Amino acid sequence: MTEATPVKMPTLPDAQTVTEVKHWTDRLFSFRVTRPASLRFRSGEFVMIGLMGDPDPKTGKQKPLLRAYSIASPSWDEELEFYSIKVQDGPLTSKLQHIQPGDEIILRPKPVGTLVHDALLPGKRIWFFATGTGFAPFASLLRDPQTYEDYDEVIITHTCREAGELEYGRELIDDIRQDELLAELIGDGFHEKLKYYPTTTREESAKIGRITDLIRSGEAYEDLGVNPINPADDRAMICGNLAFNLELKAMLEEFGLEEGANSKPAQYVVEKAFLD
Ligand code: A2P
Repeated sequence: MTEATPVKMPTLPDAQTVTEVKHWTDRLFSFRVTRPASLRFRSGEFVMIGLMGDPDPKTGKQKPLLRAYSIASPSWDEELEFYSIKVQDGPLTSKLQHIQPGDEIILRPKPVGTLVHDALLPGKRIWFFATGTGFAPFASLLRDPQTYEDYDEVIITHTCREAGELEYGRELIDDIRQDELLAELIGDGFHEKLKYYPTTTREESAKIGRITDLIRSGEAYEDLGVNPINPADDRAMICGNLAFNLELKAMLEEFGLEEGANSKPAQYVVEKAFLD
């Protein structure tokens, strides 16, 4: 008689298993989980993920505690990757930051979102503007062959308070530049289209300042060696904190770009980076 290998039964609804966790700073971490076989998504979309909440003191019942998380991995990846802040008293991230490989999380397999190529009209150059964990949807889009097929130039800007907060993005850009699979998928030399512009606001780094100020002053254009943003050539996606989103949105409108949506593609789209 042969004994069947014991199969670990999922204990959570919509359970997925954590495969890898990486801590970047005391405020930031990324993790990978198994991907439901049926899950299809467009790069830039988000899903609801989470854990079971604490038992209700009266009934003892537990409810899922879910938050919107952009999928940071590309749609061709076998697993799903997420990039998260750790908020010490945040209902979800105070717990989520302690997950380990082998643990389960809840993942509702219904991807949605506005940061998708379908919401933009054709253009020559695309700008991805991020602050903090707002980098996550671009981590997906930057590994999507369509990004390089659709545009001659791809510019990713990332503004954070401190230099350590840039590391996840910096490592990802380095990996993209060396990735042979991507080069095979997209075509050799695709990364020559990619320009990366990291800046910090509260700590020394190679570039200091908010991206909004650096664009207004023209310094960002000079550093990147590009001409100013204009509605004929440029398309943009914005993902960061609320004040940043609003300021950048107003600036792009000033430059003549209009906001698009899935149902009515235009020149730029915006989405909030979700915080606990
Ligand atoms: P600053 O340090 O000058 O506030 P946070 O961690 O608070 O979400 O901020 C992430 C980054 O976004 C910080 O570098 C912050 O700069 C920057 N930021 C905040 N508000 C704006 C804004 N309105 N325009 C541009 N950048 C902003």
